[in-house]
Amino acid sequence: DASDIEKGTYPHFMLKEIDEQPFVIRNIIQKYQNEDGTVRLDDEIRGAMKAADRIYIIAAGTSYHAGLVGKQLIEKIAQRPVEVHIASEFLYNMPLLSENPLFIFISQSGETADLRGVLVDVKKKGYPALTITNVPGSTLSREADFTLHTYAGPEIAVASTKAYTAQMAVLTLLAVDTAKARGIELDFDPLQELAIVSSAMETLCDQKEKLELIARDYLAVTRNCFFIGRAADYFVCLEGALKLKEISYIQAEGFAGGELKHGTIALIEDGTPVIAIATQEHVNLSIRGNVKEVAARGAYPCIISMEGLDQDGDAFVLPKVHEYLTSLITVIPLQLISYYAALHRDCDVDKPRNLAKSVTVE
Ligand code: G6P
Repeated sequence: DASDIEKGTYPHFMLKEIDEQPFVIRNIIQKYQNEDGTVRLDDEIRGAMKAADRIYIIAAGTSYHAGLVGKQLIEKIAQRPVEVHIASEFLYNMPLLSENPLFIFISQSGETADLRGVLVDVKKKGYPALTITNVPGSTLSREADFTLHTYAGPEIAVASTKAYTAQMAVLTLLAVDTAKARGIELDFDPLQELAIVSSAMETLCDQKEKLELIARDYLAVTRNCFFIGRAADYFVCLEGALKLKEISYIQAEGFAGGELKHGTIALIEDGTPVIAIATQEHVNLSIRGNVKEVAARGAYPCIISMEGLDQDGDAFVLPKVHEYLTSLITVIPLQLISYYAALHRDCDVDKPRNLAKSVTVE
């Protein structure tokens, strides 16, 4: 029961939940590990993933952002086409469905009405549905054919943190299991790589002071903030911007590195913070080029890069993890920067205005 959960020594649930992420990942590794160290998923889920010729991920908010990462993981690892849709739009902008679709509903709460609307429609049409949720007894879990549990423990802060990283970890295991079912040889051990992620998360959670200084320096008084990234970093930019908006009320947007110049660069003024993410080797040069473009227009850039790709002047350097899993750790400094920005601006971190933890109306 949520009312039994205590903050302990933490000033806010959000900070506690950010700090729990290394343990959540370890928990997921344990729950989904066979004795021989391989991934264990339900046979029925494996069968459904194998039978599907196309996967449709349906989600909202932060879970939608996890879905964008999940698409990449499933396409790269399991070589199956995936579409990701915002739940509230799906029935209005219905794509042409494949012959054997499988629907995946990603929802921390398992109660989001926008997702339920799609699930009811999908079940009426007779398509199989899998819910990935943090609450196994929830409506979306009961009404879908299959459930994958994210094992993150109750999430109380309105801004989602550990549920997001847990969703991406479970999507990684789902992708690997599907690849195995399809006979695809992988040179990627997800459980081992997730263990590395868990340690990297710990290292990051130990760098709060540094991140607090970044928040103070870049975000204490600004009106707006942009996040730019390419490839996998783009998706985490969307999530970083959402976190910042939700709890600090700073107008924030995440952009693909190459897209800012097609309009939004007009908003860059002297001192506008631009947080750039550089964890992907193949786009490291081009994202740094984008940083130069905005800096030339007066922006105040903050580069968050990864060991091995870092350069002098980067504001923060992430420990190295497998390229499939960078989003799981990149988001942590973004969560913490948002948290400290909200504190500096005297915002109600755990209960931001106008927002609900779970939205059960359409
Ligand atoms: C609400 C919350 C968001 C969350 C979204 C989806 O809007 O404020 O933090 O991402 O719902 O919630 P779900 O429980 O379906 O993941």
